[in-house]
Amino acid sequence: MLDDLKQRNRDWADGKVAADPGFFKRLVGQQAPEYFWIGCSDSRVPANEIVGLDPGEMFVHRNVANLAPPQDANYLSVLQFAVDVLKVKHILVVGHYGCGGIAAAIDGKRRGLVDHWLHPIREVHRQNRAELEALPEGRPRLDRLCELNVEYQVRNVAADVFVQDAWARGQPLAVHGWVYSLQNGHVTDLDVTVAGPEDAREDGVPLKPRR
Ligand code: CO
Repeated sequence: MLDDLKQRNRDWADGKVAADPGFFKRLVGQQAPEYFWIGCSDSRVPANEIVGLDPGEMFVHRNVANLAPPQDANYLSVLQFAVDVLKVKHILVVGHYGCGGIAAAIDGKRRGLVDHWLHPIREVHRQNRAELEALPEGRPRLDRLCELNVEYQVRNVAADVFVQDAWARGQPLAVHGWVYSLQNGHVTDLDVTVAGPEDAREDGVPLKPRR
């Protein structure tokens, strides 16, 4: 079963060792990534590959539509480990244009459990209805909602107690918002970086979850 994948695994591992004989030995000792990626589960958005990082270089959490919900125990556990134990220096919230989760959140169809999961996106949509409805229907509107969702998730992460406590003890930590294009493989920095509690946005939006 799945022999092709097993063979690919061996080829990949052999290739790593051929290029760097100590590669796996070093990683067994410890992981010390500087980056924590919060991205979408979409198979077209493979975290490490997009930014050219090897195993050991980036801690990763992925879910449908790259959400950072303040009540989600899975996400919070990963966040706490990243901040308190690994002491990552950068948290990257990475959305992507053409996200099926974003589209599904607002198309009005019933899908079951995932409708609950996607609820925060409907909130983002509701709170930004005027801006979104000024855009042409379809792609432009959905693309902007992808960006707004990233902004809101950045704010969620920045407002989290683990992150706030890290800043209070002087730990260097920045939260960034990026969006990835399936069209050309490029990431765009949305310029919503929060590197400390003083980094409220220019428009004065407080750093607390807007839910
Ligand atoms: Co997606």
